[in-house]
Order: sequence, then structure tokens, then C-alpha cells
Amino acid sequence: MFFTMGRFAVPSQSEVNSSPGTRRTRGSWNPRQEETSLQLVRMWLYLAALLGLYYLRRWYRERQTVENLQDKYVLITGCDSGFGNLLARQLDVRGLRVLAACLTEKGAEQLRKATSERLQTVILDVTSTDSIAAATAWVKAQVGDRGLWGLVNNAGTVLPVAPNEWLTKADFVKVLDVNLIGLIEVTLSVLPLVKRARGRVVNVSSILGRLVFYGGGYCPSKYGVEAFSDSLRRELHPFGVKVSIMEPGYFRTAMTDMQRNLESLEQLWHRASPEVKASYGQHYFNSSHRYMQKNLIEKCSPNLYLVTDCLEHALTARHPRTRYSGGWDAQFFFIPLSYLPTAVADWVLTRDWPSPAQAM
Ligand SMILES: NC(=O)c1ccc[n+]([C@@H]2O[C@H](COP(=O)([O-])OP(=O)(O)OC[C@H]3O[C@@H](n4cnc5c(N)ncnc54)[C@H](OP(=O)(O)O)[C@@H]3O)[C@@H](O)[C@H]2O)c1
Repeated sequence: MFFTMGRFAVPSQSEVNSSPGTRRTRGSWNPRQEETSLQLVRMWLYLAALLGLYYLRRWYRERQTVENLQDKYVLITGCDSGFGNLLARQLDVRGLRVLAACLTEKGAEQLRKATSERLQTVILDVTSTDSIAAATAWVKAQVGDRGLWGLVNNAGTVLPVAPNEWLTKADFVKVLDVNLIGLIEVTLSVLPLVKRARGRVVNVSSILGRLVFYGGGYCPSKYGVEAFSDSLRRELHPFGVKVSIMEPGYFRTAMTDMQRNLESLEQLWHRASPEVKASYGQHYFNSSHRYMQKNLIEKCSPNLYLVTDCLEHALTARHPRTRYSGGWDAQFFFIPLSYLPTAVADWVLTRDWPSPAQAM
């Protein structure tokens, strides 16, 4: 009879008394086994202690902030709405000198009304070289010899989103122009000012820069942002300039507005060639429409602070992170999934997709 204690079995008195060899009991006490178990426990304790020390050091380093924030200029693109707008207001409250670039005069005016006199706005279309040159000249005049402490490349666009076969080259170019080429041109244009301040570049990418689950220019543009940021970080390190990448999950902003997304999908379907329509079928379109609607309602978090707090940290911490994941979905689902084998990611991401009419 055995009384179990954790992994070990303790023999009863009669079993202890019985002569060795007459009865070899399964799971009986074994000094070598106990030694191995103790070694394992010790190993796990060392690992836990090391992990604890690592996180303690990281926590300590990350809570240190840079000094004289009130003298630091930060240029943010795409401040009319969403993350850019919230970040501009947040940094203004924190006392930084915000240079908020908006696409429209209306957006700029609304932002000025909601913020202090320190915050200044400029009109910037990141797809226009002239607009970038004019905004850069304005920024240069504002910052003077101090240089530009922070550049946040936030401006972005997502539509059209659809299976790649439904789209044209122009559809891809439209998105890539804003999200990638625009971001690169703005960065190159103001980089001398950032170098002067030994400042920061923060590029807003996406979990869709790590994992792709729909067609169109958006995911390739964000993969491009990741690649550009990685090379920039390595090149600028010797100059004391730090580069961070922000990878948000799904959030409720103008970009994920349900009406806009559904209308765009409808237009693309109506525009599609007869071959594409026959290949995918009406049922595929109807299901995709429902799928998009369900995703946008259920998955988008309204808490934009999860992203803007990371952006603020990237600009104000002495030791900013290289990558920030914004949102629970990014941290606990998309980023871990991106490390799994491609076949697993393919299955997880496509298991709910409708089947095309001419599927094999
Ligand atoms: N929302 C999400 O779930 C999510 C997830 C991952 C990453 N992101 C990224 O986060 C960033 C901000 O997006 P958001 O979600 O805050 O959406 P948003 O509210 O639509 O913000 C994007 C801003 O960029 C502006 N913009 C568009 N084209 C521009 C151009 N050519 N030049 C300058 N500005 C331009 C938009 O102006 P208009 O509105 O006037 O077009 C808008 O103010 C984007 O880079 C986006 O890819 C968003």
C-alpha cells in the first residue's frame, strides 16, 4: 500500500520490512531519483530567479525618463484623428512641444481648439514631396538649433482591403504611397533635425507587419515599415538616435470604421471582372461581408491609450523599447502566432474563411 506525496510514493511499514529482492515495488523510494528531482527543482528556481531579475532590471530601466521634456519638439503625422490625434493631446498635457501635422485644415483647427497654445499645427500630405518640403522648412524654423527630438510617423490608410485578385495596381500604390513611401520621405526629410537633437524616430506599424491575413497594399506596406525601421535603427545607433516600432492590434478608429470598410468591399465586388465573380461567387462575397462586419464589431478595442501610452514611452523614456505591441490581441494572440510554423498560422487565420465557388 502506498501513500503518494507529490511525485514520490512512500512505502508502508510492511513493505519497508519485507526483504529486498523478494518484492520490487513500482515507485518505491530511490535516492538517485530523488537527487535528480531536487536538481530539476533547483534548475527551475534558478531560471525563475534569472527571469525575475531580468524583469526587475527592465522595469527599473524603463521607468527612467529623459529630462527637460518641456524643451523637446515632437512632430507627429496624421493628427486629424485616431492615435495621432490622441497622442498630440496627451503629449501636450505632458508639457512637450507638439508639432502636429494634419492632412486637413479642419482637423488642425479642431486639434488647436482642444489643446494648449504650445501645440502648433502644420498641414502635411505625406504623399506630396512639396508638402513634405514645406512642412520640413516650417519644422526647422520652429526647432532652431535644438533640433527635433521626436518624429512619430503615424499617418496611414488601409482601404481597399479585399482578396488580391479583386484589386488593381493602383489600389496597392494608393496605400503603399501613404504608409510606406510617405513615411520614408518624411523621415529622410527631417532626419538631419532628429540627428541634431540625438532624438527618436517612432514608426507606427501594425501586427499586420508581422502576420498577414488579408489582401491589398496594407500588409505589404507595414512589412515595409518594419524593414525600413530595422535598417534605420541599426544605421542611426552610432549617432545616438533611437528608432522604435509600434505594432498595434485592432482598435476602433476611423481606419476600422465599419461603414467605410463595408462600402469599400461592396464597390470592389461590383467592379470585379466576370471571371473573378464566377471564381469566387456571390456566397463568398456575402460571407466575407458578414465576416468583416463581425470582426470589426467584436475585435476592435476602444482603448486607444494602450497604443498612445507606448508611443509616449518611446518618446519620453531614457531607454525606449525597440518594439511595442499595443493591445491584448497583439500581445497574446497575433505576435505569438507569428512565431509559430507558417502552416499553423495559415490554418488558424483561414479556418473561418468562406469557400470560393470554384474551390477545388
Ligand atoms: N486602428 C487600428 O486598428 C490600427 C492597427 C494597427 C496599426 N494602425 C496604424 O495606426 C496609424 C494611425 O491610424 P488610426 O487607426 O489612428 O486611423 P485614423 O484615425 O484613420 O488615422 C490616420 C490618420 O492619417 C491621416 N492620413 C491619411 N492619409 C494621409 C496622408 N496622405 N498624409 C497625411 N495624413 C494622412 C488620416 O487623415 P484622414 O482621416 O483625413 O484620411 C488620419 O488622420 C496608422 O499608421 C495605422 O496603419 C491602426
